[in-house]
Amino acid sequence: MNFTEIANTRQSCRSYDAERGVEQEKLDAILESARLSPSACNGQPYLMTVCRGESARAVAKATQGMGMNKFASDAPVLIVISEKPYVASAALGAKVKGNDYRSIDIGILAAYITAEAAAQGLGSCILGWFDDAKIREICSLDAPVRLVITVGYPKEGDKLRQKKRKDMGELVKFFD
Ligand SMILES: Cc1cc2nc3c(=O)[nH]c(=O)nc-3n(C[C@H](O)[C@H](O)[C@H](O)COP(=O)(O)O)c2cc1C
Repeated sequence: MNFTEIANTRQSCRSYDAERGVEQEKLDAILESARLSPSACNGQPYLMTVCRGESARAVAKATQGMGMNKFASDAPVLIVISEKPYVASAALGAKVKGNDYRSIDIGILAAYITAEAAAQGLGSCILGWFDDAKIREICSLDAPVRLVITVGYPKEGDKLRQKKRKDMGELVKFFD
């Protein structure tokens, strides 16, 4: 798949085949692509905690407050992205420029994870709705959890949806 094909076929998967695990080589490919993602001052201010089995079930439950994200229970893998400290140069840049580089870095990391998952024929969904304290406890983390990503094979029959996006004119401004 080239990048355009990945962009067209990656979608938030909310229906997983709970009986089918993710092969270690595919998971490794996702984590390696994630490792190659760019970050401010190359600081990589994040940690990916890969949850499978019992820990995946527990983390899934922690994303389901108020009836949300029920599908997460069927995902065989949940990747928890938590913060790591800035490197000194990125910390200085963030302060001087008033820009939250770490959030940007984590967003790019998530984009790489979900893109590589699609390239590997897997479904994924980025989750921003979760119980931070609970996941920190499950995963023994001492820093804020910023995103959780479900990964697994889509259930048979899970269709590719038409993308709903703003028109190009709303998203892009050319300025010559
Ligand atoms: C930061 C972030 C948080 C999100 N949180 C959730 C979530 O908690 N549950 C969910 O089902 N989808 C969540 N999504 C998925 C978005 O709803 C989805 O990406 C968007 O509607 C576009 O659809 P698509 O991914 O299928 O193209 C999240 C996406 C992002 C980037």
